[in-house]
Amino acid sequence: MKGNFELSSLESVVSLAKRRGFVFPSSEIYGGIGACYDYGPLGVELKRNVKDAWWRSMVTLRDDVVGIDASIIMHPKVWHASGHVGNFNDPMVDCKESNNRYRADHVSVLRVEGVEGCPMIAFIDDGGKAREKAEKRFSKFASGNFPSDHIETVLLTDIPLSEFGSVVGPDASKPGTLTEPRMFNLMFETYLGPIQSEESKVYLRPETAQGIFVNFNNVIDTTRVKIPFGIAQQGKSFRNEVTTRHFTFRMCEFEQMEMEFFCKPGTDAQWYEYWKNARLQWFIDLGADPEKLRIRPHDPDELSHYSTGTSDIEYRFPFGWSELEGIACRTNYDLKQHAEHSGKKLEWKDQTSGASFTPHVIEPALGTDRAMLTFLVDAYREEEVDGNQRVVLGLHPRLAPTKVAVFPLLRKDGHPEKAQEIYRRVREVYPAAYDEAGNIGRRYRRQDEAGTPACLTVDHQTFEDDTVTLRDRDSLEQRRIKVDAILGELREQFGF
Ligand code: GAP
Repeated sequence: MKGNFELSSLESVVSLAKRRGFVFPSSEIYGGIGACYDYGPLGVELKRNVKDAWWRSMVTLRDDVVGIDASIIMHPKVWHASGHVGNFNDPMVDCKESNNRYRADHVSVLRVEGVEGCPMIAFIDDGGKAREKAEKRFSKFASGNFPSDHIETVLLTDIPLSEFGSVVGPDASKPGTLTEPRMFNLMFETYLGPIQSEESKVYLRPETAQGIFVNFNNVIDTTRVKIPFGIAQQGKSFRNEVTTRHFTFRMCEFEQMEMEFFCKPGTDAQWYEYWKNARLQWFIDLGADPEKLRIRPHDPDELSHYSTGTSDIEYRFPFGWSELEGIACRTNYDLKQHAEHSGKKLEWKDQTSGASFTPHVIEPALGTDRAMLTFLVDAYREEEVDGNQRVVLGLHPRLAPTKVAVFPLLRKDGHPEKAQEIYRRVREVYPAAYDEAGNIGRRYRRQDEAGTPACLTVDHQTFEDDTVTLRDRDSLEQRRIKVDAILGELREQFGF
């Protein structure tokens, strides 16, 4: 039951996430730190469920994919071979007035086309109010001297450096405070061992993918995989992102779930199609609204030089369509690069013909935190029930942090003891919660906000006919079921 509720901003999800213990700002008692977040008691369960759902569909239920868990700090040559040391850069501009730093390719500029000396107003386009505000600032700076009906929006990166003097930065009060764009490497550096020198410099991995490529031979030598096959990995990645916005959407420390699917050259296109569809279906199977999902193929100028095709699975967030997952045809680029830099052969040998070749790769790469945010945003709704407003997270039962809540109707007459007994039995099978605080309506609301799909209530009648009430979060239907039938009924409702 999704209803017609449409979220207008992330605010209410951020507030629910804080209020109910899904997500907290990191180091909050010290005022927080950048775009770092902590997952609270409900958040950690949701994240675990998202990861388990991915692992189940990508590894457990398949014969052709195996998993690994590589270390975060790898040999620095890995990042030279992968191109991250040379290429993993963003163009940055600094504002000398506000001391803020922006990704130049994320800054938009309002200007009047072809009018020299006209002020240009820079802003970070969020698909919402930022442009409106920039227009107001434009009329202030231009003070009616320029034809505002000819205003156009261009990217800062398209403005010649000689015109930067007329650009008012996003947080500046006067023009000319933005520096020229400089390249900035996104990898976090640290040192391995006691001496801090160029030789001991290492990086925190900016993606999990390379841990897979460098283990290619290890996996072939120790398993019975046959081409085509995949190697999957989940884990933390780190990027010194400069623009971090939209809550957990873009962070400096985040998790990825990536799989490299190795196939025969020439079969890339077929596997690319297969993985695009399979990955889109994964989100839909876990309850995400298909209307808010789409696959967007990259334009040729967005493609890496080695890629023969890349598509993003995008979700329509309140701040606009945004990337959730990339599915990329990486050809044999990575294996070739590592073979060259390490001097080791990274090939597949065909047992029948004896011929060797470097496999091609299709890579579905998803951010765990971004997937979580998507499921939270997608599940969030406010609705009216019997004249009262309720907030509910309609999470798929596989994702719901708590699957079942057990309540005694009263805190007397043996209700708590019986409810505890049921709770202990249920939690052996499904993550469960016990709650006896407050009136029953409030307890239901609390579970609705936590996304708990089923609630069981013990009342007077339980002692007469050994039944409890089973309440469904979405339909709000309440029906009596036998205590002995609880696990069977839950299994029926959840599908597992
Ligand atoms: N190995 C390919 C790769 O890492 P990517 O598009 O840079 O590709 C894959 O990252 C996914 O990881 C993205 O689609 C996104 O979901 C997630 N991701 C990337 N940077 C992120 C960040 N700073 N914060 C949160 N998630 C991020």
